[in-house]
Amino acid sequence: MGFIMAASGSAVGLGNVWKFPYIVGENGGGAFVLVYLICIAVVGLPIMLSEFTVGRKTSLNPVGAFQQLQPGTPWVGIGFMGVLAGFLILSFYGVVGGWTLAYVVKALTHSLDQFTNPSEAGKFFGTFIASTGEVMFYHALFMGITIAIVIRGVHGGIEKACDILMPTLVVMLVILMIRALTLDGAMEGLKFYLYPDFSKLTGQSILVAMGQAFFSLSLGMGAMITYGSYLPARENLTSATLYVVLFDTLIALLMGLVIFPAVFAMGLEPTEGPGLVFSVLPAVFTGMPFGWVVSILFFTLLAIAALTSAISLLEVVVAYFIDQKGWGRKKSVLTMGLVIFVIGIPSGLSFGLLADSQLFGMTFFNHVDNISSNYLLPLGGMLTAIFVGWVWGTKEAHKEIERHETTFHWAGYWEFVVRYIAPVAVAIVFLAKFFPTD
Ligand code: PHE
Repeated sequence: MGFIMAASGSAVGLGNVWKFPYIVGENGGGAFVLVYLICIAVVGLPIMLSEFTVGRKTSLNPVGAFQQLQPGTPWVGIGFMGVLAGFLILSFYGVVGGWTLAYVVKALTHSLDQFTNPSEAGKFFGTFIASTGEVMFYHALFMGITIAIVIRGVHGGIEKACDILMPTLVVMLVILMIRALTLDGAMEGLKFYLYPDFSKLTGQSILVAMGQAFFSLSLGMGAMITYGSYLPARENLTSATLYVVLFDTLIALLMGLVIFPAVFAMGLEPTEGPGLVFSVLPAVFTGMPFGWVVSILFFTLLAIAALTSAISLLEVVVAYFIDQKGWGRKKSVLTMGLVIFVIGIPSGLSFGLLADSQLFGMTFFNHVDNISSNYLLPLGGMLTAIFVGWVWGTKEAHKEIERHETTFHWAGYWEFVVRYIAPVAVAIVFLAKFFPTD
């Protein structure tokens, strides 16, 4: 269970709780959710197993892993891309992580459970993210905590904490879901969320759904290679993959069942964007029995879930400098942590000072998120699938998966998907985006 919870600690985070609901809202609901689930099954699942396998086989960081399996070839580039992706993702992830810390404090001081009407909660959030000082302070705090944990290199404690945290998060979400579903008008929200209206799908929304599958499962950048590299041979990789994927998807789906019924019942807009969860949940806490306690618990859990993901992001970047460049852990963590924080500053200001400084209609925050989640991760994942499927080879990978007498029950599915479906699916989505048919 330890490993499954640790990998889930990386997978479950802001991606499930913050990002999933808002992009579902922006991309029309049910049909998008369906495309997302298909991406999880045909792209996410096989690539996660591939990453675990590469990691355990080599016991190395992503750059070292590809180097060892195919020395002197350009495949090592997948590892470098991963380091870059981890770097970019953490830069804006730290900003949103900071928002969650701020909301823990605001919950404690009763600011999140007594709005007079639902739209007040949205205004409250809008004022908060536009305030430079406060946003910067919590961004720095979040990065500081992440750095402090990664410097010690002790993930043991954190991973143990995940054993308790993750199930508690599920319980909280179920409680909130019951609350949301019993609000007047909740059914409209359920319909939006679950009933697929395919007319709302575009090439762009399919790309976003695929990017989200990678982002939410922490794939395409070597985080799962890194986790796999810590694994003993007797761990069963195939069932670990299934559990992590199921768990991560369950949390995202539950979150949708909380947000959309509430959005529609309260007359809010599903297309609100990155502020959606922060604007809607406080409106749900208001007037809910024990709303204050729930608000504190919820944002505390979310902040911790965000931290366990941020740790895995920083670890990929840092492991590269330690293993490949021979830097000490302390120097690597402090330097890279600081650089990432600085690169994140314009993302933090994208909702205030820099809100109007846009390029192609998108803020700095949007660009960094878009480049890393929608392009770097799927590209890294596609190349990983091609590498494992064709270059290193499914035969070798299969041997590694079965190294310790476990039988790989869905080997046929995996081999087929990793060789043919996953790379082709990613390629088609990219092509459809660049050469739109309409
Ligand atoms: N999967 C994490 C989340 O959903 C984010 C993440 C992406 C972490 C890539 C590591 C690598 O919040």
